[in-house]
Amino acid sequence: MDPVTRLGVVGCGLMGSGIAEVAARSGIDVRVAEATPDALEAGRRRLTASLDRGVRRAKLSEEQRDQALARLSFTHDLSDMADRQFVIEAVAENRDIKTDVLRILDKAVEDPAAVLATNTSSIPVVDLAVVTERPAQVIGMHFFNPVPVQQLVELIPALLTSADTVQRTRDFAEQLGKQAIQAPDRSGFVVNALLVPYLLSAVRMVESGAAQPEDIDRGMELGCAHPMGPLRLLDLIGLDTAQAVAESMYEEFKEPLYAPPALLRRMVAAGHLGRKSGRGFHTYDG
Ligand code: 3HC
Repeated sequence: MDPVTRLGVVGCGLMGSGIAEVAARSGIDVRVAEATPDALEAGRRRLTASLDRGVRRAKLSEEQRDQALARLSFTHDLSDMADRQFVIEAVAENRDIKTDVLRILDKAVEDPAAVLATNTSSIPVVDLAVVTERPAQVIGMHFFNPVPVQQLVELIPALLTSADTVQRTRDFAEQLGKQAIQAPDRSGFVVNALLVPYLLSAVRMVESGAAQPEDIDRGMELGCAHPMGPLRLLDLIGLDTAQAVAESMYEEFKEPLYAPPALLRRMVAAGHLGRKSGRGFHTYDG
């Protein structure tokens, strides 16, 4: 299949900015959309900071950073996605917001063969596909945080996704330098189905007073060679996102192991969202 040359990314939060960065660094023209000027500016800053960090870490030259920045354009208006061949939505993990975005994209993107991918972590892809007129070209393409570092992409064909769309998305993942696994269209797919119960168990351990966050994290880092313990990982993912993912999974399976613990809900209500707010199970500077 022909490589993708014009990508759209909707949402420039942690995931959207990472996806846009990886694509721009792979030589693709990327148009990024955000709902508000503030969110767009924050996304642009995050993207630039990540590219600068790449230069500092000698992952890319200044020239490559500048070329990547030149391939990125920003908009508030989803009708600017008209000429895109492939669009990934990476907006908040909220069914209504994602549904709205997909409906608008379906009308805005002119090429009827263009793929509309969703980076949902937990919402069944078919529920999002059926709001469009092109369900055969809707697929889950689930990236992992931090996107520039994690190699994996989960491909989630829904019941209505065509074999051609799966192949084009697999080729596109390869074009981005990622490795794909195919996952079932069940809430949580493969990785979150295993990861989320583990993360929530760590929250329950804190909630019950059984162990301190520092000890839980050190336990898994030093005892099992995880790059970060479960509570640091929750802080990286964002506690609000983790809560939303757990809620979708609980809604699907009604299994207590997916139910967000009260402590997680209270922390989200308090604005302790993890790294992005400076405080979660741990505190962060800057
Ligand atoms: N962008 C680009 N590169 C980055 C980066 C970023 N945001 N963050 C880290 N890196 C690179 C660094 O440059 C460094 O590369 P180098 O070793 O070649 O110089 C390397 O990653 C390691 O970074 P650091 O030395 O700064 O820090 P750590 O060694 O502590 O690693 C980490 C940080 C990469 C986040 C590592 O701790 C990790 O992999 N943690 C686990 C993350 C994880 O499990 N992610 C999945 C979350 S689940 C998910 O996303 C699904 C969703 O649906 C919930």
